[in-house]
Amino acid sequence: MNIYSRILGTGSYFPEKVLTNMELENLVDTSDEWIRTRTGIVERRIADHESNSILGAKAAEKAIEMAGVDKDSIDGIIVATFTGDTIMPATACRIQNHLGIKNNCFAFDIAAACTGFIYAMSVADSMIKNNLAQRIIVIGSERISVTVDWKDRNTCILFGDGAGAVVLGKSEEPGMRSFHINADGSAHNLLTLEALGSDFLSNRYKTTIEENLIKMKGNEVFKIAVRAMADATARAVESSGLKYEDVDFFIPHQANLRIIEAAARRINLTNDKVIITLDKFGNTSAATIPTALDIAVRDGRINKGNNIVAAAFGGGLTWGSMLFTF
Ligand code: ACO
Repeated sequence: MNIYSRILGTGSYFPEKVLTNMELENLVDTSDEWIRTRTGIVERRIADHESNSILGAKAAEKAIEMAGVDKDSIDGIIVATFTGDTIMPATACRIQNHLGIKNNCFAFDIAAACTGFIYAMSVADSMIKNNLAQRIIVIGSERISVTVDWKDRNTCILFGDGAGAVVLGKSEEPGMRSFHINADGSAHNLLTLEALGSDFLSNRYKTTIEENLIKMKGNEVFKIAVRAMADATARAVESSGLKYEDVDFFIPHQANLRIIEAAARRINLTNDKVIITLDKFGNTSAATIPTALDIAVRDGRINKGNNIVAAAFGGGLTWGSMLFTF
């Protein structure tokens, strides 16, 4: 008998506060029109008082409820994030505490920026297939708003806060079918958040937190992202054993509509098969794929048995893709 991992339930959570493009016009020299046409983003959510681990725990609670499993049957929690509550302990441990899971449960974070959720799913899938766990909650959770320089129009217009989660469980039926993860560390300086890393701390009397918030060479990242996302998407389909026409939906990382359209064209998918959430939520990094999945499951577009390809790209640089049957 083959052992697979399969998604048993999904959940997502966004803070209530909405920040529109129009409101950003009062903060930096930008316009609603520029942001919409260059990125596809219209508004995003901001967590004023909720920590990253609270966002993640709220998404995880919904995923556990949909899965219909007892929380004490969860063997592990893996959180993909670059905006954890603290550098130590892992945000996964704080989420474990919020969820009240006490027994025999491991918890750790994965740092792969916007590709983090795909990296985390590949780790969880391997652990389940190797009998290290039966059920793992995989969460992408971000509170990016506190890491952004609100005077930098190149970055502050892009990001939002939110969290998405899945319960991944052992299955006799195929669920997760293929993964492709990759990185190019020679481009590590194209997208950075240096504040509170040990390099920053060792230098902390000579610099300020403000000088070490998120920085991105957007145009250079864009060029690499278009090619890497399209290649990764095609590779996930080709290594899954399925054909292009078997793919029901594409869930791309939600950074820029132009990058998404280029990747969708590469696998010949029409717009109705591409799940888009960036207009309402912006780029929530590791949370974009699990939140988009949950939204499309709950509004009835994605149903059991659908084949879904997801792909992401982010700081590192990292990129990756996965194909699964929901
Ligand atoms: N409003 C108005 N003008 C702006 C703004 C703004 N918010 N931001 C930049 N501009 C200006 C620039 O200053 C520049 O002006 P100039 O020509 O006078 O110098 C002009 O617009 C063009 O700037 P570009 O950076 O070339 O704009 P581009 O079309 O590349 O769009 C964007 C910028 C949206 C950031 C795009 O490059 C992008 O999406 N990059 C990829 C982002 C991504 O995928 N990141 C990875 C995931 S994030 C993660 O891992 C955390």
